[in-house]
Amino acid sequence: MAKRDYTDEPKHAENRRADSRYVESDLATQCLHAGERWEKQYFWTSSTPIHNSTTYFYDSAQELDDRVYCRKPGYVYSRSGSPTNTALERALSTLEGAEVTHVCASGMAASHLALLTAGAGKDQLILCSSDVYGSVYTMVENIFPHLGAPSILMDFTDLNKLEDTIKREKPKVVYFEVVTNPMTKVIDAPAVIEMAHRYGATVIVDNTFTTPYLLKPVEVGADFVCHSVSKFLAGHGDVLAGSVSCYRKDFDKLHDMLIQVGCTLGPNEAWLALRGLKTFTLRMERQCANALKVAQFLESHPLIEKVRYAGLPSHPQHETARRIFGAQSGDRPPQYGAMLNFDIADCDKDKAFRFLDALQLILPATTLGDIYSLIVNPARTTHRQLSEEELTAIGIGPGTFRMSVGIENIEDLKEDLDQALKVC
Ligand SMILES: Cc1ncc(COP(=O)(O)O)c(C=O)c1O
Repeated sequence: MAKRDYTDEPKHAENRRADSRYVESDLATQCLHAGERWEKQYFWTSSTPIHNSTTYFYDSAQELDDRVYCRKPGYVYSRSGSPTNTALERALSTLEGAEVTHVCASGMAASHLALLTAGAGKDQLILCSSDVYGSVYTMVENIFPHLGAPSILMDFTDLNKLEDTIKREKPKVVYFEVVTNPMTKVIDAPAVIEMAHRYGATVIVDNTFTTPYLLKPVEVGADFVCHSVSKFLAGHGDVLAGSVSCYRKDFDKLHDMLIQVGCTLGPNEAWLALRGLKTFTLRMERQCANALKVAQFLESHPLIEKVRYAGLPSHPQHETARRIFGAQSGDRPPQYGAMLNFDIADCDKDKAFRFLDALQLILPATTLGDIYSLIVNPARTTHRQLSEEELTAIGIGPGTFRMSVGIENIEDLKEDLDQALKVC
């Protein structure tokens, strides 16, 4: 092959020459401005760049004014968004089948924003599933009532009781996770959404455990879908992020709320999440397959008292899961996610700690959805804010474990669980 002669490519060299706008300037000025904003983009990058600029400027005051007053799309200040965030937002809207998405600083920020945007506020009741992520439970039980929004937390698997409550209490907002954290109960999302709408409530679904790989709540009528993007969507345990997807009609309110609350996602985090997203379906395919095999292995293990995994026929809502996740699965068999829950027989806190300490491969750590398998005992970690009575009511005991199954070799996972169960 002929050697490339770079002298024939003046354009390449041109781009790298001294910045003519500042050659006469003082060194301090050059440090600030030379090279920056060197040309309006005429190229496309295959990977979205990280736009760390906090502000944006335009050719004229009128152009800027058009952006400030939203007459034209664009960016003004990065608290209200950046092109990197937009790329992630467009990706998530597409994945969720939603019209619009805002990304924000964490999954908790997303739940908070969704509740505020949906109208939770003075004298506006929140009806929330009692089996939700611990910090969401506390936020709904304690923080919103301080803002004047009363709340009721209850089991959402009994549809008759739920309908009685919705009819009687007339909630403004109904909030639930489809596969619940940590007990992996499966809520009949289409039925709950239809029921809540019949009585005039706005519905928020946390789709973190299920992800659009199993279910797209907007397609079955949810008004808002929120995510801890930190989990399966980003998938690598290296970024904290959240998202709220909704219909265009609610977007202005969501956008204003994001700006006023100020919980915008940083562009570096948006980029990491966007990169993680590239392998989302590959990871989910492997993680769901591994989870089913781990659940089957644990169910037949003599030292295990109970396994809860939506893909096992023994799971109380297995048929519901098959129906609602089957609708999303197209040609492949329904998948049931990568989260499972089990009880070790005769297990107190000390035995639980011995089990966690004995694990060699599976990481005892509080997050979920990563490529690595992760495990926690919710009573001591994710749900530690709940009282003894509240934990018992949900079914969380000292020997209850929540496992997020990763992409490791399945035999290695089984071996690790088996050896830790035997020594504890
Ligand atoms: C179902 C669910 N929703 C929301 C959150 C909160 O997400 P983040 O940790 O990104 O704030 C979590 C965290 O574990 C979760 O499991």
